[in-house]
Amino acid sequence: MSTDLYSQAVHRFQALFAKAQALEMPEPAAMSLATVGKDGRPSVRTVLLKTFDVRGFVFYTNMHSRKGEQLRANPNAALCFFWQALMQQVLVEGKVQPVSDAEADAYWATRQRLSQIGAWASQQSEVLPERALLDKRFMEFEQRFGGQPVPRPKHWSGYLLEPRLIEFWQSRPGRLHQRERYFIEHGSWQWQLIYP
Ligand SMILES: Cc1cc2nc3c(=O)[nH]c(=O)nc-3n(C[C@H](O)[C@H](O)[C@H](O)COP(=O)(O)O)c2cc1C
Repeated sequence: MSTDLYSQAVHRFQALFAKAQALEMPEPAAMSLATVGKDGRPSVRTVLLKTFDVRGFVFYTNMHSRKGEQLRANPNAALCFFWQALMQQVLVEGKVQPVSDAEADAYWATRQRLSQIGAWASQQSEVLPERALLDKRFMEFEQRFGGQPVPRPKHWSGYLLEPRLIEFWQSRPGRLHQRERYFIEHGSWQWQLIYP
């Protein structure tokens, strides 16, 4: 029963995401990612969903970034998708873990060379004293790799967020929106309707 409920949530998300992609809206894969600092304060930013399957939600980033440091200290994170054209929101909560090197390598190989070099050039979340320094670093890495394939920096990889809660919100007239929550309790998946 509980596995069936999780499969249901997975299939619902897949169907909704496919619908959002089919509408050709800008950045249907954009999601807000919330993390928590060591001081207990939350922070949020947009990242792109790159893979979704039964394991959970995968995004890629610089592991030395602010979010990377926060996730290392506290793997609890939350996601929020909002597709305006569908008037639907999906909330996700869970813990992240790094994807395998093989999975990160496979995704890295699909990225454009410019983005690969950009990943080497950007010390994401560090202070950039002047814009010209970023361009200089880009050119330096471009020269360093010459015509060779650009290797994946060790600190550039993906996180898999394993959900323990997925909530589907759908706009309904009179603000009587539909909220359905799938969540794990005592190791098994549950489903509840929630007041809007
Ligand atoms: C539409 C959009 C997509 C983005 N996708 C990513 C992404 O997939 N990975 C990433 O590291 N940053 C992405 N960013 C940049 C992040 O929002 C953020 O500025 C950056 O990751 C640094 O965040 P941090 O300092 O909190 O770690 C994206 C920004 C926008 C607006």
